[in-house]
Amino acid sequence: MIVTTAQLYKVAYGKFAVGAYNINNMEQLLGLFRGNIQSKAPFIIQLSKGARSYADKCMLEAMIRAAEEIFPEAIFAVHLDHGDEPTCYDCIDSGFYSSVMIDASHEPFEQNVAITKRVVDRAHAKGISVDEKHACLTNPVEAVDFIKQTKCDSLAAAIGTSHGAYKFKGQQSLHFDVIEKIRENVKAAGLPPTPVVMHGSSSVPKSEVERINAAGGKLDPSARGVNEEEYLPAARLGVTKVNIDTDGRLVWTRVHREFFRDHPEKFDFRDSGKIFVTEYADFIAHKNEKLGSAGQLDAVRASVKK
Ligand code: G3H
Ligand code: 13P
Repeated sequence: MIVTTAQLYKVAYGKFAVGAYNINNMEQLLGLFRGNIQSKAPFIIQLSKGARSYADKCMLEAMIRAAEEIFPEAIFAVHLDHGDEPTCYDCIDSGFYSSVMIDASHEPFEQNVAITKRVVDRAHAKGISVDEKHACLTNPVEAVDFIKQTKCDSLAAAIGTSHGAYKFKGQQSLHFDVIEKIRENVKAAGLPPTPVVMHGSSSVPKSEVERINAAGGKLDPSARGVNEEEYLPAARLGVTKVNIDTDGRLVWTRVHREFFRDHPEKFDFRDSGKIFVTEYADFIAHKNEKLGSAGQLDAVRASVKK
């Protein structure tokens, strides 16, 4: 069942984080649904501009609608990841998306506010929520000002993470102080609690990088991401959506590199595809345990039925 992102946030806020997983193809989608059913978790499917062009937006929508039929017990939202203004309008007008993200963070503050506000107005008229990208290490005072001016539903605050496989050096960790300050300032301003979205949340497991390199890959062995043990403490402070893409790409790369290294005579992509779907489902179930979303499906079902 497709629900609004706001319905998921309502149950999750302050308790657990909902995993937001980027999807580009059928195998990922199958693994995603299986993993979420396996772990009894609500989830968010993220479609990027790149995914919408790679697989065609119509193909993605058709596959998601098919998955909804195949897995009737699943509860999820569909989100546009990193949209520009025209792509946000396309998704809002399609009637398919639960929420959109407008990323005007490259613009000066006033421009970012103006663009985000236009998208929020058009989205809210259709009951769709908006997630926005503010700045690099979000200034908690500016963040509140931004929420007030744009009326966005969640804040994609940068709290020390970045996209891709190369994020942290040494012992860097999440900026819990910034998350806490945003929450305090939102409350002090008399605004309703605003869920924080954490981008760049992959953990880039060392073992995964090592296995990929042992099977012919050339990834930087010092690559590392967010400590998975920090997901839940962050969720309790208001991080309600956790975006994960890179870790799933690592699973794909490891499965396929190892498969074709170990079976050089094979060429049926369904052989490696089947392994990937199972491994991806296990990966999703593992992430959901760390996010605290595992086991929350019944609570979400009860809440959306009200
Ligand atoms: O934020 C980026 C996501 O990982 C999506 O990546 O734009 O290559 O599809 P993509
Ligand atoms: P990762 O690159 O850490 O997986 O982050 C993905 C993301 O934030 C998509 O918006």
